[in-house]
Formats: sequence, structure tokens, C-alpha cells
Amino acid sequence: MLWLIGNRGMLGTELSRLLEQENIPHAGTDREVDITDPAALEAFARNIWPGKDSARWIINCAAYTAVDRAEDEQELCRRLNTQGAANIAACAAGVGAGLIHISTDYVFDGKGIPGGDGRPRPYREDDRTDPAGVYGLTKRDGETAVTENNPASVIIRTAWLYGQYGSNFVTTMLALMKERDIVSVVNDQYGSPTWARDLAGVLLEIVKTAKNGRQIPCGIYHYTNEGSITWYDFAEKIYEEARSSGLLAKNCTVKPCASSEYPARVKRPAYSVLDKTKIRKALGLRIPSWDESLRNYLVSVYNVDTL
Ligand SMILES: NC(=O)c1ccc[n+]([C@@H]2O[C@H](COP(=O)([O-])OP(=O)(O)OC[C@H]3O[C@@H](n4cnc5c(N)ncnc54)[C@H](OP(=O)(O)O)[C@@H]3O)[C@@H](O)[C@H]2O)c1
Repeated sequence: MLWLIGNRGMLGTELSRLLEQENIPHAGTDREVDITDPAALEAFARNIWPGKDSARWIINCAAYTAVDRAEDEQELCRRLNTQGAANIAACAAGVGAGLIHISTDYVFDGKGIPGGDGRPRPYREDDRTDPAGVYGLTKRDGETAVTENNPASVIIRTAWLYGQYGSNFVTTMLALMKERDIVSVVNDQYGSPTWARDLAGVLLEIVKTAKNGRQIPCGIYHYTNEGSITWYDFAEKIYEEARSSGLLAKNCTVKPCASSEYPARVKRPAYSVLDKTKIRKALGLRIPSWDESLRNYLVSVYNVDTL
């Protein structure tokens, strides 16, 4: 039996739907089983399927994810992302369940590490972490807490998630493009947009692989869609696809700008591309490119068929 924690968040809902589609027995919880309460977690893990079984797998998609607000709510953010993660890992160890925990590119400083050609190379799992803000710091400490409390865990770092079940860059852009004639988007932050459904599929694949006796080694892995672009590039593509499919009925100019024009509480990483070699090899994955997944997302969510 699998326990999905955070099943009403953007990633959690996507995974929940996938588990239902594939008829995989599972239980899902969100705030009603508070991850800051170790006793509540353990009680649920032991009685997940009354009279039959305790949890065999726990996947944690719950977190504090408001990056800017975290600067003002440090304690709450730490309680969820560090202590909550530690509680879940200890609970998994206590009931003998495998744990998959989700982390973030914000654990890196985003300055990039020069590769052979002098340009930044994608971050590897064992590169030095150095988070810039409270959110990244508490997630990094959450990774450490998970490893300490349950060394048998798998931690997946991801980035730039979008999906059907939460506010995200794609829906924001489409709404702005409908309203405005010009939309300015930052063109100096590089990353990899990632469809939450693709990541949900990978989480499920980890569980299935283990069931078939080929469990991937524990530790940290990176997963995003393929490719490295700026938010401006992403917005341009969203516009192009929305116009050609008829999703957007009017013109809008997408204008590049610098992140200094958009002051935020926390500096966003200028470079947060993640190296995915390790997970690709471990699972034998073909990872879709960001533009292929954007197209699939628009087709599946907006029913457009002319892309
Ligand atoms: N979104 C991104 O771009 C992104 C990028 C990199 C990594 N990640 C990581 O990916 C994971 C999933 O992100 P997401 O965007 O799907 O997050 P999300 O939509 O914010 O979902 C998190 C879920 O956790 C729930 N939650 C909050 N406090 C809780 C508590 N005390 N006990 C149990 N559940 C609680 C939230 O409920 P409420 O909504 O009621 O608060 C929400 O349903 C997170 O670990 C995040 O750090 C996300």
C-alpha cells in the first residue's frame, strides 16, 4: 500500500490521478494528517489499510512552497520543509516503508559552475549546495534530515514545475496575454520547465521498478524536463502555441526584461539547470524536452488539437 502525502498540491494531485488511472492501491492525505505531528503520521502509516497492512511506500509531495513569503514565515517554513520532512522519514523508517521525498533546485546558489567551455554546466547531485533564501535553506536542511532519519530514502530535486492543479507560470502567462498587449518576462534566469505529470510518472516508475525487484539505489536524483531556456523563451513558446492553436484569440507582444526590473524578496537563481544523467541511467528513462511536454500539457488540459 502506498501513502501519498500532500495529495492536494500541484504535484500531489497529478500523482493521485495517475495512481487512480493505474489502479494502484493507495491512500492520500494532505493537511488532515499534519506532517509537523509525528504521532499523527505514525498512526496513519500503521493503519493505512485497517486490518491488513502498514504503508510500504510513502511519497511526500507536501511542503511549504511560497518562496517570497517564507522570508517572513521562517519558522512555519522550517517546521514543514525541515521538521516535517524529518518526521516523515522517521515514520517511514519506523514502519519499514520506502520513502520518496521531493526537493528543489533552490538548494543551489544559482550562480552556476563553469563547465569545460567556461559556460555554466548543469548541476550534479553531489555539487555543493548553498541556498539563497529561507525556502531553499529549509528544503536543503529537509534533504539532510530525510537522509539522517531514513538513509534508505530517495530524494528527487526538481524545478520550474507547472501543471493543471495549481497556479503556475503557464496559466499566469495565458491570463496575462489575454488581458494585455505587452507582457514583459525575465530573460536572465536559465532553467528547465517541467510538467508535473511527467515528474509524477517518474515517481510512479520508481515504485514500479522496486516492485519488480530492481529498486534504484537510495540517495539524491535530479529530474526536470530536458532543455535549458529562460522564462522569456518559455513565455514566447507559450504564446506561439496558444496563438497557433486558437487558445489565444488576440496578439500580444512578449518582451524580454532583466530580473532587476522585478524586485523580489528572494533572488531567483540565475542558473538552475539540473543534470539528469543519474536518474536517466537508473530508470532507463527517455526524458521529454520542455517544449514537447508543454505541447502535451496544452493538448491534455485545454483540449486543443491543432498544435
Ligand atoms: N512548484 C515548483 O515550481 C517546485 C519547484 C521545485 C520543487 N518543488 C517541490 O515539489 C514539491 C511539490 O510542490 P507543489 O508545487 O506541488 O506544492 P504545493 O502545490 O504547494 O503542494 C503542497 C501541499 O502540501 C500541503 N500542506 C501544507 N502544509 C501541510 C501540513 N502541515 N501537513 C500536510 N500537508 C500540508 C499544502 O496544503 P495547502 O495548499 O493548504 O497549504 C499543499 O496541498 C514540494 O516539495 C516543492 O518544494 C516545487
